[in-house]
Amino acid sequence: MMDWTDRHCRYLHRLLSRHTLLYTEMVNAGGILYGGTERHLRYNAEEHPVALQLGGNEPDKLAEAARLGVQWGYDEVNLNCGCPSDRVQRGAFGASLMKAPAQVADCVKAMRDAVGDAVPVTVKHRIGIDQVEEYAFVRDFVGTVAEAGCRVFIVHARNAWLQGLSPKENREIPPLRYEVVHRLKAEFPQLTIAINGGIRTDAVVHEQLAQLDGVMIGREAYHNPWWLTGWDAAFFGDTRGPDLTRESVEEAMVAYMEREAAAHGTGWYAIARHMLGLRNGLPGARRWRQVWSDHRLKDTPPREVMALARAHAPAADAGTDADSDVGRAGTPPIAATAA
Ligand SMILES: Cc1cc2nc3c(=O)[nH]c(=O)nc-3n(C[C@H](O)[C@H](O)[C@H](O)COP(=O)(O)O)c2cc1C
Repeated sequence: MMDWTDRHCRYLHRLLSRHTLLYTEMVNAGGILYGGTERHLRYNAEEHPVALQLGGNEPDKLAEAARLGVQWGYDEVNLNCGCPSDRVQRGAFGASLMKAPAQVADCVKAMRDAVGDAVPVTVKHRIGIDQVEEYAFVRDFVGTVAEAGCRVFIVHARNAWLQGLSPKENREIPPLRYEVVHRLKAEFPQLTIAINGGIRTDAVVHEQLAQLDGVMIGREAYHNPWWLTGWDAAFFGDTRGPDLTRESVEEAMVAYMEREAAAHGTGWYAIARHMLGLRNGLPGARRWRQVWSDHRLKDTPPREVMALARAHAPAADAGTDADSDVGRAGTPPIAATAA
């Protein structure tokens, strides 16, 4: 997710789940080729398995970007056919590519030729464009792209309306139609079909996995990252998970912030912004979050910021599920700690 799932965010998410496949933000193929390969492709070795999502519509550029992605060690290369933003539409890629399945097939073929069997080339798309709700539209899209050798489709189960909605509205207003994704799986049982859109609980993930091959979670994973700590056991049959606590994760992130600052001069706030949901639902969460997002502390070492944040938050595992900051005696106001 653009501006969200950068390498710092993925580092955090990997601490929380060993097995979940993580995706990069969409990276423009042209950016990789002409805007600094390292800047666009650098990631932390700990992130594996990690998929590189590309944006673009030119087979030769996508092929070269995919080849570089594999050279950099990504485990999958994904083509975005679902983003409806104006900028992406002006470039005629993202969701507008759903109107051009033959072009997507050419792109996928070129990418597959470039990477060989090294990694899968996959596609993420919507179930339709604008007001087109006919199943045949998405069926023909998937059929054509599958003929070019794509075996994995991640389907955001709502249309993209290319006119009149912002990207945010395009994630909320067009109705979710999971049944279309189920129908695709029934029609293409040999393909790996994963569903995306509006999924927020283990129960729904299990429900979908009973019919489909995978589930992609976007916003809920970002806003409520602690949810990921149950996934290895719930969905990957791995109950050996490390004994994580919010404190141990925060501590590991501070160590990461210190390494990042030393190696690349990264400010802690560029990393901390992704962990603000870590205590969601626990007492003191709001104040803890306020400290970690207080830019007046930006020159304070992250270990000290952690100490300040903890002064506001009781041990997480002693908490209840109420996000109550009211009436906690002895909690100093943030402004005082930041002065
Ligand atoms: C801030 C933000 C950025 C996003 N950027 C991307 C992106 O780069 N590539 C992509 O395929 N989807 C992107 N999405 C869409 C999500 O991947 C996902 O399809 C959508 O939010 C629906 O899933 P959810 O309900 O689980 O969030 C983005 C979503 C958000 C909120």
